[in-house]
Amino acid sequence: MLEELQIKNIKPLNYQIIEFESFGDQRGDLVALEAFKNIPFAINRVYYIFSTGKNVRRGLHAHLTLKQVAIVVRGSCRFLLDNGFEKQEIVMDSPKKGLLIEGTVWREMYNFSEDCVLMVLADQHYDESDYIRDYDQFLEVAQKGHRA
Ligand code: TYD
Repeated sequence: MLEELQIKNIKPLNYQIIEFESFGDQRGDLVALEAFKNIPFAINRVYYIFSTGKNVRRGLHAHLTLKQVAIVVRGSCRFLLDNGFEKQEIVMDSPKKGLLIEGTVWREMYNFSEDCVLMVLADQHYDESDYIRDYDQFLEVAQKGHRA
């Protein structure tokens, strides 16, 4: 698969699941997130999404340069990641896992459980000019950047 992508000069979908160490004892669990240790960038922003309605789809955008780690600290939700060539669906249902997304990747979040709290760490402050919110424009940017 990777070989096939390399022949076509297409980059594989740029995401990674980070497994966090949990310091659990008889009192419960604790996960610590630290820049350049288990989070591979300086954290400049944290936001979280909760009380998401049934059948709601969020995200529906890509970023030009932003790096993010998404952590479902409670409950579960699904991510659709798309780099313009390849799509992947990921279930996030553990506070011990982070989803690192970097590069121009279209993302959609859905199937939020009622109790879902989705926390996101980002390397940059909120900047609307870093967003691509139009899917056709995203395809143009993603495919132009990766084609031979
Ligand atoms: P939006 O981009 O629609 O969220 P999502 O991609 O998760 O569906 O953001 C909702 C609103 O919150 C919008 O008015 C922008 C604002 N916002 C901030 O002010 N700061 C932030 O860090 C983020 C992510 C959003």
